[in-house]
Parts: sequence; C-alpha cells; structure tokens
Amino acid sequence: MRIVVLGGGLSPERDVSKKSASLIANALLSKGHEVALIDLYDGIESDVAVKELFRSGTDDLFSYDIPEEEPDLQRVIREHGGRREWLGPRVIEICKDADCVFLGLHGSNGENGKMQAVLEAYGIRYTGCGYTGCVIAMDKGLSKAIIAQAGYKTSEWFTLRGADITFEQVVEKVGLPFVVKPIGCGSSCGVSIVKSKDEFRSAMSYADKYEHHIIIEKYIKGREITVSILDDKALPITEIIPHEGFYDYKNKYQAGLTTHVCPAEFTEEETAKAKKIAEEEFGADSAVAIAVRRFCGRMEEQNPQEAEEARKV
Ligand SMILES: Nc1ncnc2c1ncn2[C@@H]1O[C@H](COP(=O)(O)OP(=O)(O)O)[C@@H](O)[C@H]1O
Ligand SMILES: [Mg+2]
Repeated sequence: MRIVVLGGGLSPERDVSKKSASLIANALLSKGHEVALIDLYDGIESDVAVKELFRSGTDDLFSYDIPEEEPDLQRVIREHGGRREWLGPRVIEICKDADCVFLGLHGSNGENGKMQAVLEAYGIRYTGCGYTGCVIAMDKGLSKAIIAQAGYKTSEWFTLRGADITFEQVVEKVGLPFVVKPIGCGSSCGVSIVKSKDEFRSAMSYADKYEHHIIIEKYIKGREITVSILDDKALPITEIIPHEGFYDYKNKYQAGLTTHVCPAEFTEEETAKAKKIAEEEFGADSAVAIAVRRFCGRMEEQNPQEAEEARKV
C-alpha cells in the first residue's frame, strides 16, 4: 500500500509524535509498503511531485530521539514565519494520494478529533479511532463525566477555566494530595501532583501554560497500569513503575527511567477485571449509550414522557 504517516504537528507532544511516526514508518517500510513521512504542521513547502515523497525499502530508515524538555511551540511557529495554522502546506494533497493515512500524531491537534474530522471530510481513510471517540477521550473532563455517568469509578474531580481558585477550596473539594492537569493534553504535559500549599501556585500556572481549561483530581494511591485496546479487545496489561516521582514527561520518554512490566503481575481475576473495564470504557459510543439509559431511567420515575423523548434523541 501507499501510506502517508502523519507525525509532528503543532502540539506539546510534537516531539513524541515524531518518534512514534518514525517508528511506525520504519515498521511499514519493513513490511514492504511505500511510505511518506509527513509532519502535520511543517507540511511540504516545496513544489516537489507528490510521488517523490514516497519511499520504500529499509536501506535508509528514519530515527528520532525525543529531547528531555517539552518543545517550545512558540519557537517552532517563529521558525515557520509566524504561521499559526496547524494544518501544514500540501498535507491534504499528499494524503489524498495515499491508500491510507497512518496517524502517528499525539496531543491536542492530532488526537482531539479535528484531524480525523478533516480526513473524513475529504474521504481519506485513516487509522485509529473516529473523531467522536477522539473528541471524548482527549477531553479529560468529558471522558470522566461519561465514565462516571456509566457507573465506573473515577477519581473525584472538577474542572475550571483559569487558575482563579484557592488551595483551601481545592482541598475542600477533592482532598490532599491532588493532581492538576490541562484538560486536553497528553504525555503528562502540564500535570503536577500537589502535596502541599507551596506547590499549588506553580502547579496551576504550569497547567495554565498549556491550556486555560484545567482539571483537578483527587490523587489515587496505588499501582499504575495501562490497558491498550486493539479491535475492541484488551491487549496484555502493562504495569508502569517510575523509578522516581510519577509518570511525568521525562519518565515517560527518557530511556531507563521507568520499568514497564508486560504482562503485568496480577492475579487472573484482577487481570480479567481490568481488561473488562478497559474494553467497556473504550467503547465511548456504548459508554454514552449506558449513560443515556441511566439518565433516562432516573427520568422515568419523574416524567415517563420526557424520558421517552430523551431516549429517541
Ligand atoms: N488522580 C491521580 N492519582 C495519582 N496519579 C495520577 C493521577 N492522575 C494522574 N496521575 C499521574 O500522572 C500521570 C499523567 O496523568 P494522565 O491523566 O494519565 O495524563 P496524560 O493524558 O498526559 O497521560 C499518570 O500516568 C499518573 O502517573
Ligand atoms: Mg496517561
């Protein structure tokens, strides 16, 4: 197949994505596909023919190392003459020429459904979740609201716009320690765990640097796992054990700072339970359906007519 791998982009996870996209491109090349590796933000400035952008064979593979620090996006914008549009020159033209676009994108512009919707508007086939799932999953407030409404446990939380709240007010709502995050980022960008009052202001401004919309969660003590889903089925569970601190940007992407145990060492019962919850929560559409059913169920008691209308919607 002729495959465009999209990576980079104008998101705080630009560098992480470049690495993912390079590895994906290499894997596809080794499988015998024709591959064009394109940066969503950079695009292609020259008028080179699209077919020249595709390559095949494994003689000259891609490589990219993630720097320790998160990228300075203002600098990236300056380097591109101040251009703020996240969809780079000729990206759509190149994607249209491929059989499929493999999304190696991370972070806001890439995982939040916008690019998926653009590709869909052009009738271009792409990998991964559809735009609805992306919109929901990339918004930590929205996804937690749906998960909670569907009856699953999620740490207590609230969202706010801006940093206009006192430490005492937060503690009253979710207790201490708590976690401050920008609502729509990934890769732990802007995430801090606050254990005392003197850490509060810097945590808020760190999150606010990424996004004005912030989520604050109760801190949950315990083992950390990731359950990935492929074709609606859970893959083996990975346990994440950072050697120091929590699973922040550095511990995620610098080699040797975190131990990943896969398959994670849990009892059969625990494993099955974690997989089941992940599979159910992953079905964002079905989670929405469950939420609607419960909502309607509660309404039923008060107003059966309205509940019926809501169900139809
Ligand atoms: N409520 C919480 N309790 C304990 N640790 C947390 C909590 N929320 C986040 N963390 C830590 O911060 C990391 C990043 O937070 P997460 O919400 O997963 O953001 P991202 O989407 O950027 O991965 C997690 O992997 C975990 O180590
Ligand atoms: Mg995470």
